[in-house]
Amino acid sequence: MGVLLIGAGGREHALAYALSRSQMAGDIYCTPGNGGIAEYAKCIDLDASDHQELIKFCWENNVGLVVVGPEQPLVEGIVESLEAEGIKTFGPTKKAAQLEASKSFTKEFCTKYKIPTASYQVFAKGDDFEGYLKDCALPVVIKADGLAAGKGVTIAQSHEEALDAVRACFDGRFGSAGGKVVIEDCLVGEEASFFAICDGEYAMELPTAQDHKRAFEGDEGPNTGGMGAYSPAPVMTDVLRKQVMDEIIMPTLKGMKADGAPYKGVLYAGLMITDKGPQLIEYNVRFGDPECQVLMARLRSDIAPVLMASSDGMLDRMVHRFDDRAAITVVMAAKGYPGNYESGSEIKGLEEAASDPDIMIFHAGTRRDEEGRIFATGGRVLNITALGKTVGEARDKAYAAIDKIDWPEGFYRKDIGWRAIEREKGMDK
Ligand code: AMP
Ligand code: GLY
Repeated sequence: MGVLLIGAGGREHALAYALSRSQMAGDIYCTPGNGGIAEYAKCIDLDASDHQELIKFCWENNVGLVVVGPEQPLVEGIVESLEAEGIKTFGPTKKAAQLEASKSFTKEFCTKYKIPTASYQVFAKGDDFEGYLKDCALPVVIKADGLAAGKGVTIAQSHEEALDAVRACFDGRFGSAGGKVVIEDCLVGEEASFFAICDGEYAMELPTAQDHKRAFEGDEGPNTGGMGAYSPAPVMTDVLRKQVMDEIIMPTLKGMKADGAPYKGVLYAGLMITDKGPQLIEYNVRFGDPECQVLMARLRSDIAPVLMASSDGMLDRMVHRFDDRAAITVVMAAKGYPGNYESGSEIKGLEEAASDPDIMIFHAGTRRDEEGRIFATGGRVLNITALGKTVGEARDKAYAAIDKIDWPEGFYRKDIGWRAIEREKGMDK
């Protein structure tokens, strides 16, 4: 059976790596792919928005499973189109993908099904948001309703900043994504990422993970897609994990089914661990990037049957196995990211850096030329991923690998995993 993977980042490279180890998956194709994915998959140029083109490709190439990395194709209804032609596709339908595509949908859903989340109010243009903001506590969180490439959230420290953020949404800074605005309380605590593969009814919990969203050391600087991640996340104790399953994930599956949009695919809950317990910050309908990289580095069982079972509604018959060791991934980005950066510089030393079997280098934004040379093509460029007995040991291996990479145009954070490593030190005492 052929598998078609959709996407171009480090997340998709990690999925391609997992699929390449599958007994069930035969030929692997990826559109558009990147310089690293090309090692495991045949990279082709298809238009993911053109469902007829995808269907034709799947038929001609014996593709029996399509794995969608990013949210956009899901929100555009790729799952319905392909499944209508009998092509199994991992991910939620357009209706179920609203959990990521509309923050007001998710907030209202949480209220209806009593899922713990920050208190909020939704506003449309012309509503009296000024009156609401005048009395609200600071900081306050302003969110554009729709998909805004990770830039739609402002944590406003003053009423003026909050007013400006709401007006910017209504003035079109995020296009139609800012047509509605969610204003919500600011939660205090530690963030964690929680992943469950779902089949409409049943949820298979994956190991815990955490990412670092800020660009610079000490979790300072602008927000990014993620500068590193690790798994497990020691903040997620067994008690908390059970609470998240019982209070957040399972009520979501039940509610989505009751509302006629059963949720299939991977459900990614962004959580804040507050002193009142875990609260949902947001849902994503895809794997996190770079969290996927550490999960796939730890995965030992075959991924393809699990992805198929998610689509088939047979996940309760599946088991998965993960390496007991910890994994970490350090993102190497082009200098300037998440602002302006240069593209096209050559990266050397990758083969030597990846010579240790516990090191996996996933490419997030690269191109491979005919001679096999690798060039940077994006903001986030490489994910240096390592396994180790502890997060601390994995971290040391990842940074030792980075030392072998020759790419003066790149930068990376030197403190990935610091929270987990501090906890590990605390446990040793
Ligand atoms: P999002 O785009 O929803 O992932 O939000 C981006 C980031 O904003 C999150 O990862 C959090 O760090 C932060 N954030 C969003 N909502 C809240 C909230 N209600 N309280 C505190 N931080 C938040
Ligand atoms: N790592 C955060 C995200 O994938 O949205």
